[in-house]
Amino acid sequence: MRIIARRHGCPFCVTEALLDRTLLAGGRGFDKADLGELHDNVPGGGEDHPLACQIMGSEPTEMAASAIKAIEQRTRSDKAYRMMAYREGTIAQANMSPHVSEHAASFDPAKGINGGIEEEWGAGVSGGGGVSGESGVEEEADTEGELSDGFAHKAFPPHPAAASSLSFQVIDVNLACPVKKIEKKSRGGHWLTDPSGAIKILEAVRDAVPSHIPCTVKLRRSFDDTPEMVQNFHAIFETCSKIGYAWTTVHARTVEQKYMGPSRWDFLRDLRARHPDTIIFGSGDIWNVEDIFLMIAYAGMSGVSVARGCIGNPWIFRQAREMMAGKPPSNPTIAEQRAVLGEHFRLSLACTRRFRQPEQATAMMMRKFAIRFAAHHPDGETVRKKFIAVTSTAQWRAVLDEHYANA
Ligand SMILES: Cc1cc2nc3c(=O)[nH]c(=O)nc-3n(C[C@H](O)[C@H](O)[C@H](O)COP(=O)(O)O)c2cc1C
Repeated sequence: MRIIARRHGCPFCVTEALLDRTLLAGGRGFDKADLGELHDNVPGGGEDHPLACQIMGSEPTEMAASAIKAIEQRTRSDKAYRMMAYREGTIAQANMSPHVSEHAASFDPAKGINGGIEEEWGAGVSGGGGVSGESGVEEEADTEGELSDGFAHKAFPPHPAAASSLSFQVIDVNLACPVKKIEKKSRGGHWLTDPSGAIKILEAVRDAVPSHIPCTVKLRRSFDDTPEMVQNFHAIFETCSKIGYAWTTVHARTVEQKYMGPSRWDFLRDLRARHPDTIIFGSGDIWNVEDIFLMIAYAGMSGVSVARGCIGNPWIFRQAREMMAGKPPSNPTIAEQRAVLGEHFRLSLACTRRFRQPEQATAMMMRKFAIRFAAHHPDGETVRKKFIAVTSTAQWRAVLDEHYANA
């Protein structure tokens, strides 16, 4: 979905929230953050940049270590990162491998927001190159004494394998997800009930990630509508810029609201009035291209985060660029819809190729997109039902041939 969005003009993407513990666990836990040759990201490669890795969790040191692991693309052993996380004390800024500095340093968020990204991250960027999880530095990591000051500096020299892989350009901390607490511990949006705990996480991540890599945060406007919780939001928000977070994305629903009810854009407008110079992205209730510009005009956001409005509708990005150029937004033709439906299926198939039944898995995965894609078709209801019944590539193609052939 990220690749399809980018091919239609989306300038910047954030991964789904990746749990710190999952990132730190060995084996497949890291797949979704692995920008090398693992199945989940094969279609992405160099095209999937600039990209933020969003992390979510409960313990400051786990969050910090998982951020380093994501940025370094697991150039140390899994065990080395776990040792960072579960050792006493804080994690000093990691001594990043040269490729990380190179790619991350060349990402200028301000330029990116203004749409200059294609120059730097267009088709010329090549990605890929797998990195091994077992880099052989474990013995070194275990050496007593070397661990005594600042974790990463001495005990974990960067591994040369890193030079062949792209990294993330930004680390985004999720303080927004409404999914329930685990084992009585906060995570995601539940940190809005505990601002001092949230700030410890933010500090730990910012301290650990090298200063040339921007850290950002995703927040809900509050946990609920009580004044105490609203105050918590402001305490966290104000701390973010003080401790060096580059920007904040605010989803203007409460955690309690989950994804229902209106996103309160008036909250965003008030926030902008309080903080005229802070980079704030707005999120919530962006359903079509007009909403993007309405939010910017109404709430004065520096940028807008498109979420459900781009599922099955990558043309929202093209339309936004058309509107920025002073042109009317163009709707996708049947031929364009057909091309994207084929492309999205092919890319998804690449993600499921290690599954036992890749075509069936892809067809299942594509359902939620197909329902939204069908809305663009003049006979949307019929097409939707056909897509939902698909279980193979041939059947997918048959629906395209039958309903998208008059292109
Ligand atoms: C199913 C689902 C999963 C989501 N997962 C994430 C996530 O992992 N990280 C994140 O920052 N936001 C996530 N969001 C929230 C969106 O980024 C966005 O803030 C929210 O949907 C409000 O925007 P919208 O009303 O325009 O969709 C998710 C939303 C939905 C519906």
